[in-house]
Amino acid sequence: MAYGQEPIAQPQRIDRYVGQYAERAVGMVASEIRALFAVAARPEIVSLAGGAPYVSALPLDAVGDMIGQLVTRQGASALQYCTAQGDAGLRERICDVMALEHIRAHPDEIVVTVGSQQALDLITRIFVDPGDVVLAEAPSYVGALGAFTAYQARVVHVTMDDDGLIPGALEEAIGRAGAAGRRPKFLYTVPNFHNPAGVTLAAGRRLRILDICRRAGLLVVEDNPYGLLGFDGEPMRALRADDAEGVVYLGSFSKTFAGGVRVGWALAPAAIRDKLVLAAESAVLCHPSLSQLAVREYLATQPWRQQIKTFRDIYAERRDATLNALATMMPPGCRWTRPAGGFYVWLTLPDGIDAKVMLPRALSSRVAYVPGTGFYADGTGGRHARLCYSLPEPDRIAEGIRRLASVIETEIEMRDDFGPAAGSGCAARP
Ligand SMILES: Cc1ncc(COP(=O)(O)O)c(C=O)c1O
Repeated sequence: MAYGQEPIAQPQRIDRYVGQYAERAVGMVASEIRALFAVAARPEIVSLAGGAPYVSALPLDAVGDMIGQLVTRQGASALQYCTAQGDAGLRERICDVMALEHIRAHPDEIVVTVGSQQALDLITRIFVDPGDVVLAEAPSYVGALGAFTAYQARVVHVTMDDDGLIPGALEEAIGRAGAAGRRPKFLYTVPNFHNPAGVTLAAGRRLRILDICRRAGLLVVEDNPYGLLGFDGEPMRALRADDAEGVVYLGSFSKTFAGGVRVGWALAPAAIRDKLVLAAESAVLCHPSLSQLAVREYLATQPWRQQIKTFRDIYAERRDATLNALATMMPPGCRWTRPAGGFYVWLTLPDGIDAKVMLPRALSSRVAYVPGTGFYADGTGGRHARLCYSLPEPDRIAEGIRRLASVIETEIEMRDDFGPAAGSGCAARP
């Protein structure tokens, strides 16, 4: 379902195929975020929920002219099928984009995908058999967890702190899996401006993480849609920049250009790249030519570096509005991360307050967030909430956080008066 779209009310249906689905379909359930969109999109609600980019900041007239001319002048290729690996000209331009993060790559090593979400699906498809272990940060991007679950992976979470993934925790997780006779298929990590945690893997930890994975023979899947959206200084050096054989790097134009074009990519060692191309071919034959050529033209003819700076300035202002509001309004006992880029702040609620159970009260107070449980495969995360500041204007963010703070204050009062069950908004709980 698209962001902001109201679902059509469906009568309660009996599923006559219930006994016939493949096992992998049984674990497919709507994510916490998806279920929230319909309510959060109502105008009276300040939504800090969905992670949509602020595409209104694009020069829409210029992009419209560019796409119009693309069809007029190059329609015969823009409206035609192409290869499953993706347009060669676009892949060349992608190398220029990745060079900003010190990645040296050849266009042949790239597979274009339908957003990085499809790359996650394809990677999981070619590596994961039911029951295989995938290591992923705690918490992890909900769409990645969805892909892993769809292929029946066993997700084992690895602890993070304010500097991102903890190397010692990774070593322990690999050791534990080994002791149980399992070799994890890959480590999934979002090193920059993490979704949902808002933290960034410290420069000093990067080589250490690569070294641990190399020694364990563990592939790293580096998912990096926000890497160019840092608010201070130069982009971080990608993990892939220091290990071309051990890392599959996933990139996306969703946050630096437009999510609606659905263009992302995977940069992979040759053998994995070949499998990804075959998997992409069986999934979609080829990716939409029009979108690919639109992105290629955008990178060739529009001031895309300047546009990224525009996005960064807007998001930095919204991040500041979020952090200022949190600092002045949140009741004692709340903690939150301080992102240096990207879209997300990770809020930890006081002891005994459950973000999921509190959500209905927050929605009636006209503020939405995503409860932390959606970002864990093991059902934990109840004390956390993801706040996304990319879309609302700064004064709306401040108003949303004022409403949220007041909801949390009421929860704390109820917890103190009646115990944790009441404080978590669940007075009827046994
Ligand atoms: C960490 C992460 N990875 C992947 C994606 C998928 O992005 P897309 O498919 O739009 O490239 C998202 C989207 O929000 C994300 O936050």
